[in-house]
Amino acid sequence: MRFTFVTLFAGIVKGYFSDSILARAIESDKLSIDFANPRDFTTDKHQKVDAPMAGGGAGMLMTPQPLFDTLEHVRQGSTDPHIIFLTPVGKKFTQHDAKRLARMEHVVLVCGRYEGMDERVIEHYADELFSIGDYILTGGELAAMVICDAVGRNIEGVLGNNDSLEGESYEGLLLEPPAFTKPVTYNESNVISEYLKGNHGKITALKRELALCKTKYFRPDLYRKIDIKGIK
Ligand code: ADE
Repeated sequence: MRFTFVTLFAGIVKGYFSDSILARAIESDKLSIDFANPRDFTTDKHQKVDAPMAGGGAGMLMTPQPLFDTLEHVRQGSTDPHIIFLTPVGKKFTQHDAKRLARMEHVVLVCGRYEGMDERVIEHYADELFSIGDYILTGGELAAMVICDAVGRNIEGVLGNNDSLEGESYEGLLLEPPAFTKPVTYNESNVISEYLKGNHGKITALKRELALCKTKYFRPDLYRKIDIKGIK
């Protein structure tokens, strides 16, 4: 699967993919990432990519021409690009989206800077708009990295152990149950004894109960949705 980051600051993004699971996914060609920089496409003689807002307002906006030309270039180099804009006005990105996007061939993540971008770019090119939460970041790069990470780990073969994806499911609505490793006793606190008895049917049932309890306590909003979907 291919990701293209449309960004003025590729350096921010590159570091994240130079280590660990996603670096291995890139090495083994399960994932590829590339970059397109609107500054390379600007026709402004001073290389500018931003301008004051029409009608007034604080801050600068990314102008349409460099983004239009960048996205035309990206489209020409792709058979089926799915173009996503990162913006606080987008719909909230979820685990369901991560699994859906992992089936796509080429996802383009367009990162705004300054106060955002000229609306005509979004109107012309957006397949989807995503926000990663109700707060304002200084740019879309962090949000694009979050999406690429969450999607990337759902591509087949990216996580070493396929089981790692199972049990995360119910579309991410149910939180995971408490997990433990060695030693059995640490700091005077024990691993749940049922986990150690080897009865896998009982362990699975208990984990499911604990996952429901944890979700109800920490994320009552998710718990209510589970109810509606009849998973319980
Ligand atoms: N750009 C700025 N803030 C953002 C957010 N919360 N999500 C996605 N893109 C953004």
